[in-house]
Amino acid sequence: MISQKMQDAINGQIQAEFYSAYLYLSMSAYCEGKSLKGFANWLNVQYQEEVSHATKLFTYLGERGGKVRLATIDAPPSEFGTLAELFEMVLTHEQHVTDLINKLYEVAVSEKDFAAQIFLQWFINEQVEEESSVGEVLDKLAVIGEKTVDVLYLDKELSTRVFVPPAANNA
Ligand code: FEO
Repeated sequence: MISQKMQDAINGQIQAEFYSAYLYLSMSAYCEGKSLKGFANWLNVQYQEEVSHATKLFTYLGERGGKVRLATIDAPPSEFGTLAELFEMVLTHEQHVTDLINKLYEVAVSEKDFAAQIFLQWFINEQVEEESSVGEVLDKLAVIGEKTVDVLYLDKELSTRVFVPPAANNA
């Protein structure tokens, strides 16, 4: 059985992951509106990853005999400025999520919930990967600026990203 404190914290993270999904879906629509289909695709894959993160937590809470309580998801912004500004926002958001995951892990430690500690290690690793992949796009944008030809080249590169569902187990 899972403690109330751990259950509440996981429910809070489910809400945060769905907000992340919503935010990236809004960013994807913004890029789509500018006919940057590769950027839109990259952000749509990001959206699908966030839904899978929420689902992973949702399934885990059920497996532990906890009660899922879905909460209100705030509306995300719909304007994001330049591509560099948009990706800065993605990075800042991912750093915030890393902070949330670390706090969730702290709850698992304080509750002496060893199973949750092992489960959450997947998310700790995932955040390293998330920040790194966003940082890569930002680095490229910093080099090319807003030059049309180079942005279109990067747009083509980002169009190749595909969603890979996380393994059902904790690998
Ligand atoms: Fe679910 Fe991008 O962190």
